[in-house]
Amino acid sequence: MKKNACLLVVSALLSFTAVTAQTKPAIVPEPVSIVEGKGAFIVNDHTALIIPRSAGLDGYIREWIGDIAGLNLQVKTAVASGEQAIRLVLDPALPEPVHDEGYRLSVTAQEINVKARKTAGLFYGLQTLRQLLLLSPEQEHQYRVPAMEVVDYPRFKWRGLMLDVSRHFFPKEFVKKYIDDMARYKFNVFHWHLTDDQGWRIEIKALPRLTEVGAWRVPRTGQWWSFDPPGANEKPSYGGYYSQQDIKDIIAYAAERNITIVPEIDVPGHSLAAIAAYPYLSATGYIYPVNPGSKFYNIDDNTLNPADERVYSFLDKVFTEVAALFPGAYIHIGGDECTKLFWQRSAMVQDFMKQQGIKTEHGLQSYFIKRVEKILKKKGKKLIGWDEILEGGLAPEATVMSWRGTQGGIEAAKQGHQVILTPNNNVYLDLYQGDPLLESDTYSMLRLKTSYQWSPVPQGVDEALVLGGQGNLWTESVPGGRHAEYMTWPRSLALAEVFWSPQNKQNWTRFQQKLEPQFNVLDAAGIRYSRAAFDVLATAKHDGEKQLLVSLGTDIDSLDIYYTLDNTNPDTAAARYNGTPIIIPKSCFQLRAQSFQKGRAIGQLLIAPRETLEKRAP
Ligand code: ACM
Repeated sequence: MKKNACLLVVSALLSFTAVTAQTKPAIVPEPVSIVEGKGAFIVNDHTALIIPRSAGLDGYIREWIGDIAGLNLQVKTAVASGEQAIRLVLDPALPEPVHDEGYRLSVTAQEINVKARKTAGLFYGLQTLRQLLLLSPEQEHQYRVPAMEVVDYPRFKWRGLMLDVSRHFFPKEFVKKYIDDMARYKFNVFHWHLTDDQGWRIEIKALPRLTEVGAWRVPRTGQWWSFDPPGANEKPSYGGYYSQQDIKDIIAYAAERNITIVPEIDVPGHSLAAIAAYPYLSATGYIYPVNPGSKFYNIDDNTLNPADERVYSFLDKVFTEVAALFPGAYIHIGGDECTKLFWQRSAMVQDFMKQQGIKTEHGLQSYFIKRVEKILKKKGKKLIGWDEILEGGLAPEATVMSWRGTQGGIEAAKQGHQVILTPNNNVYLDLYQGDPLLESDTYSMLRLKTSYQWSPVPQGVDEALVLGGQGNLWTESVPGGRHAEYMTWPRSLALAEVFWSPQNKQNWTRFQQKLEPQFNVLDAAGIRYSRAAFDVLATAKHDGEKQLLVSLGTDIDSLDIYYTLDNTNPDTAAARYNGTPIIIPKSCFQLRAQSFQKGRAIGQLLIAPRETLEKRAP
């Protein structure tokens, strides 16, 4: 090639790369492959929608396109040549991708074409299209979708989010919205934590007191764990439950969105609400109220009595109805954080252990879980439990959800069991997203970047045994739906990408570029989210002379941080943080800091009292 021609090719490539970098659509989770084309397809009121009859999607797609744009697309079976259309094609022989949840999306100036082997794939093609529309508004009732070819399918088959509806009750309409929001980002498992010490939330017709009594606690507001226990004669008026009809509605709503619901009935610990309804279930036999968020652990007995046959017939009744309601293969039985104190103190339990030749309380817990597995098996369901079910020996076919880091997952996989990775350090959505001085109260920290930068396959584990991963939203400090959304997003954007996208397509730099466009998508969808990744977080330590040293950072790269030590609010004329820890002078009782981008404040103002910083310094 002549030198000049070579230069031309290189400069063409460079300009192509530059354009690509600029226009690449900010889809989350990142698809397996996107090849950009020329031109764009305009979606407006005249666009026709061609849907295969068998896909069962037309009500749904019309509803959300209507929602997005106020567009009223005409659903047709065919179009005249030249007529603009969005065409969905269900093709069981589609050569690529060969995956039940995979799809191809082709956008040209003439047509948007979504092809898949199965309805689930078409559904995900539509979710990508839904995002593309929201990312590309042109004018009112009109969207310009850039031409492209997308081929896409998921990395993992289990892409979950868990919502705890026991600590606080979330109404049916909110649960549906949460599920809808999940579907936008291609999550496919909703783990519904339905029972715990602070409320039993599922109607069991054979055991009506579970919801007459167990679903209600005395109302308390403020700081969880510091609430007063119920007063004498105080009415338990806070709570609620899902009737079986509510549950059927929610299951059907989720199924339309390719989401399987995994119900959790948490036993043998975390059972105070059930014990409040039926005191015979605990070895202690005491009558307790449902806990309103006050301290009770190792004080009130919240464990089922594994030595009492009545407990197993209770569980049989519960799981008969749960198994009949939920069509999915799995039931989650909890198994976590079961205190052994009350079993140790109970003569009945200790005698039972002797009779059965069970040496330890861990062994007893394992006996209990194995019996529960047999109950589930009779009802055609598979058992999942938190990683404590490893203690004393795993039930033969149990799937383990590893939450105390990855160790439980590693151990269970070593024993040949399937695992789901939900390590608290990467996926616990109830943790602080930013500096505790700027966030509502909780107990530990999980930054957006930490949710993004991990893999559900721990080193040395056979990937074939990893079903996938899941984000968990516990709700002790989440009293309502708006805050549940704030805690869920954008960390679940990160998790969606971790669970769906090929590992080589996960890129923190690129993910950060997609955040602002995705915030527009979340805004348009009415989803609340946190911008804490843009806020300053202060960490502190002491040096050898006991001076207080403070480091400042943001999760988002390349922001400028300005700070003051003189109680004034910083702007870009204040001191710029340069990465070297700041020595806080003795006379300074307050540090103020804020992040800026291109000279404009982008994060919240952090006001950090010296006293707080001293407490953070080891
Ligand atoms: C758990 O966080 N107790 C599973």
